[in-house]
Order: sequence, then structure tokens, then C-alpha cells
Amino acid sequence: KPNVDSCQMVSSPSPVILTQDELKKIAAYKAVEFVESGMVLGLGTGSTACHAVARIGELLKQGKLKNIVGIPTSKKTHEQAISVGIPLSDLDTYPILDLAIDGADEVDPYLNLVKGRGGSLLREKMVESACKKFVVIVDETKLVKHLGGSGLAMPVEIVPFCWKFTAERLRMMFMDAGCVAKLRRFSENGEPFVTDNGNYIIDLYFEKDIGDLKVASDEILRLAGVVEHGMFLDMATTLIVAGELGVTVKNK
Ligand code: 5RP
Repeated sequence: KPNVDSCQMVSSPSPVILTQDELKKIAAYKAVEFVESGMVLGLGTGSTACHAVARIGELLKQGKLKNIVGIPTSKKTHEQAISVGIPLSDLDTYPILDLAIDGADEVDPYLNLVKGRGGSLLREKMVESACKKFVVIVDETKLVKHLGGSGLAMPVEIVPFCWKFTAERLRMMFMDAGCVAKLRRFSENGEPFVTDNGNYIIDLYFEKDIGDLKVASDEILRLAGVVEHGMFLDMATTLIVAGELGVTVKNK
């Protein structure tokens, strides 16, 4: 759980049990309160971020928000944003964004993230590193003590060329942490999952702590064949967590 001392509790416990999707929606709607007319917005990807995109579209239609420009982080979000009426542009036109809102797969107490289990890590990192503010929205199941410690995947986007070679290099890099490196596929024995950028994803699973995250990040990025990884270190400026005890907003 985040350090509650520095969190602002913005709503009280709900008497009804909410589903995970309802919690995601609560976090997303809270984040959209940070959006002001005239902003250039990074639009995240995933089942949490899609609630924020839908809400922004709704507020635009109601005339409560005006002159918003969205920069989508995936083809899927691009399609959704168009369908809800958000005018879109790109990083070439807007190299500095006011705010981005996106989900995450893991969040540690320092607001470091794992992202990319939805496969959009590269565009997400490009867009979110260009934002003045990056608001992360999660339900409380995403909170971890150490990144990579949830037993779930740490994604690495790689070029398809000789992917087995790159996967093996990644596995060896984290051998001490009991790393298993798996090519992401659409289904078991299925075709490789291909990112919006035409690349593959290697999912790393760790048995033990991977140690210093910055060292791990630098080491992965030095490996030829790697395009980007899903650790988002020191990027988030605000975390919104929705849980059974209410919503908390934590600023870095
Ligand atoms: C996609 C992502 C998503 O933000 C992350 O996977 C969280 O997804 P969800 O909101 O569906 O739980 O990084 O690449």
C-alpha cells in the first residue's frame, strides 16, 4: 500500500463491495478532475485508462471541457478517442504535454511502475515522458512493495529479429533472480503478439527481487535487440488508488 501519511483520502469507504472494474472507473473519473480546458493530454491504454478516455469524451460533449487535444498511446486508444469525439494529434506536433492519465500493472511506494502487460509500453513511455504531469490510476490490487515482485510479467519490447537470442540474453541477465523469459503469444502455442510498432514482447518473470531498479533498467536498455522495457522509473507525479476504503491521491 502507498505511504498513507502522504496520501489524501478523498472519499470514504463504500458500504457496498465494488468490482475491480468499478474501482478502476472511480480512479479514472477522479483523475479526469485534473483535466482543464485547453490542455494537451496523454491518453493511456488499458481497461482503467479507457474509463478516463470515455469520461473526457463525455465532458467534451457536455461542453464542460473545451479545446482538448489528445495524444493516444496506442492504436486502440486512438480508435476509442475518435469514437468518443476527442480531437487527436501527436508528439511531433505537441512535444510537451500538460497531463497524461494512464493505468499501471504494478506501483511501488515511490510511484515507480511496471507497465505494458497490455503491450503498449513503448508509446506509453514516449508520451508519458513528455508530460508535465503524469497521473497514474489503479485499483488497490496493483500496489506492490518491489517492482517485479508480484509474480506477474515484466514486459520488454524487442525487435523480432532473432528473438530467442535476445530472450536468452535477458534471462541470463537476471539469472540470480531466477528469471524466466517468455515470448508473449496471443494464446498458448499461438502466434507471437505483435506490438503497434511491429515488435515482439518478452515477458520476464522473477522468483526473487531484481535489486536496484535503475541498474536493471540501464542493463536491459544496453542490450542490442531491446527497444524498451516496462519499468517506468521516476515518471509518475500523482497516484490515484481506488479501493474498498475509498480513493486516495498521492503526489510525489
Ligand atoms: C498497457 C498498460 C496498462 O496501463 C496496464 O497494463 C494496466 O492495464 P489495466 O488498466 O487494464 O489493468 O501498461 O500497456
